Amino acid sequence: MSVRIAVITGASSGIGEAMARLLARRGWRCVLVARREGILRGLASETGSEYEVCDVADRAAVDGMAARILERHPSVHLLVNGAGILVRGDFVETPLELIERVLAVNYLGGVWLTRGLLPGLREAADVDGRAHVVNIASIGGAIVFTPAAPYSASKHAQVAFSRSLRAALRGSGIDVHTVLPGFVTTPGFPHPKVFATRLGRLVVVGPERVARDILSAVERGRAEVVIPWFPYRLGAIAQAVAPTLTARVLRDAEYEDEA
Ligand SMILES: NC(=O)c1ccc[n+]([C@@H]2O[C@H](COP(=O)([O-])OP(=O)(O)OC[C@H]3O[C@@H](n4cnc5c(N)ncnc54)[C@H](OP(=O)(O)O)[C@@H]3O)[C@@H](O)[C@H]2O)c1
Repeated sequence: MSVRIAVITGASSGIGEAMARLLARRGWRCVLVARREGILRGLASETGSEYEVCDVADRAAVDGMAARILERHPSVHLLVNGAGILVRGDFVETPLELIERVLAVNYLGGVWLTRGLLPGLREAADVDGRAHVVNIASIGGAIVFTPAAPYSASKHAQVAFSRSLRAALRGSGIDVHTVLPGFVTTPGFPHPKVFATRLGRLVVVGPERVARDILSAVERGRAEVVIPWFPYRLGAIAQAVAPTLTARVLRDAEYEDEA
């Protein structure tokens, strides 16, 4: 097999950056995607990667970028949809533009780029036997979280898209993986109050751990991973069994707003 190509959105920070560093160490050729060019340039030269500056919420920009990537790399072996923003506050408090923005970045961005790169993913599957799409959603996509309701809704949309995409592409050689991290320490999601307690620190993981678990999910063909499994999977089970009660219990959860 020739060199494997990975396209990673959200590569300038946090989980996406950790993913890029890990894949580069394992010999992948990465295309790093985000908006902050200076950071991308530095990381690309450090890891021997390429980069593309793109706002994934801008459909025309994503189409243009996908075309450029496919021109350079007709086969794309792995797409990691990692770009995301956190919006805190319930639905009534949140400015309307932010409600639209969080949906456009967290959900639609991954839809546009998956569509745009599909020819390259198909080519990789045909020529090399397999290609992968990783959608980095959130446990907030399996548990409604009223203190960050528009964010949680965007992640539910992303999870639904990811699960149905997996079913739709079954048999095509393109494997789709849904990733649901719990609290992860990254610049965009600092979680200071979660960190302030001993119990909180037990359920927070670093971005490198998430990157390792994602790569393992890809290598093992796992449909869905919650990182870490405990205690977050229990919340997802609770919502599946008793959605109204679970939402009520989490409604008044304190969620930091000073970050
Ligand atoms: N950290 C957590 O606790 C946690 C938990 C569950 C799920 N997640 C999910 O994990 C993913 C990565 O988050 P993270 O924790 O690594 O956060 P992060 O450190 O803030 O990284 C977010 C990345 O997304 C990029 N991004 C944001 N808006 C973008 C846009 N419109 N177009 C292109 N790129 C954009 C940012 O780059 P630029 O600013 O340079 O564009 C950055 O590279 C997100 O989808 C997030 O929802 C995180």
